[in-house]
Amino acid sequence: MRENPEKLKIIRKPVSLQKFSKKILSSGKSIGLVPTMGALHRGHASLIEMSAKNNDITIVSIFVNPTQFGANEDFAKYPRRLRADLKLCREAGATIVFAPQPKDMYPLPLSTFVHNPKLETLYCGAYRPIHFAGVLSVVAKLFNIALPTKAYFGEKDFQQLHLIRRMAVDLNFPVNVVGAKTIREKSGLAMSSRNEYMSAEERAAASSIYVGMCEAKRLLRRGETSVVKLKEAVRGIVEWAGGKIQYVEIVNKGDLTPMTGKISKKAVILLACFFGKTRLIDHLEL
Ligand code: PAF
Repeated sequence: MRENPEKLKIIRKPVSLQKFSKKILSSGKSIGLVPTMGALHRGHASLIEMSAKNNDITIVSIFVNPTQFGANEDFAKYPRRLRADLKLCREAGATIVFAPQPKDMYPLPLSTFVHNPKLETLYCGAYRPIHFAGVLSVVAKLFNIALPTKAYFGEKDFQQLHLIRRMAVDLNFPVNVVGAKTIREKSGLAMSSRNEYMSAEERAAASSIYVGMCEAKRLLRRGETSVVKLKEAVRGIVEWAGGKIQYVEIVNKGDLTPMTGKISKKAVILLACFFGKTRLIDHLEL
């Protein structure tokens, strides 16, 4: 379905992309958008491939968004390597890379934000107070700039995906938000641009996150339905491997409300933890 399979075009200015997208849409073609912060890996490639298969045009945005990082977070050290990213985009089937400068995305400091007051303070939001307002606001801008028919996000950022889906519904964005399965390394560690911050030992130890979540799933299958016990099983394994848990929660898959007592509906484990100085998040459906 993709146009110009061998050509990858880079667009830097929001107005130029908006003009391009309007033209594409008016000719009856579909646009898939894959929003990213770069440092692309196989997880991103799977999103781009999915978009290229299902849309005429695939736009990959590469923008390390300053408004979603707290003052003491890793904005400055977040990996930036456009050349390698372009190669991955080309190979995965993208048509356009949108790589704006911060001054193009934010000619004025942002004063209008998208909030979800309840959900943005839970789980990751409890430890990263401005994070989700920054994410939702930049994704809203990207939707308005790229005018996608479909937008693709990894399920790895489970809370983020839920918030973006909800924003699209609440604010009537004419876009179909598609979530894609988490891609894992052989060890079970979820692929993330932040994995490269870790030493080889930390990276090996971090596979305990997946092991811990799988153990909770195994216990549930064998009849253990206590939320506390299942959370303890995850915590025990991650901490044994040297991880520092920030939170482990078991939540309703549908609305992300925390579960207490016994597992009742479709449940998902959400967690954040540190291996060394690297903060990792993951999830597993139970
Ligand atoms: O998941 C990410 O990489 C970012 O949060 C996103 C969605 C591209 C917004 O900056």
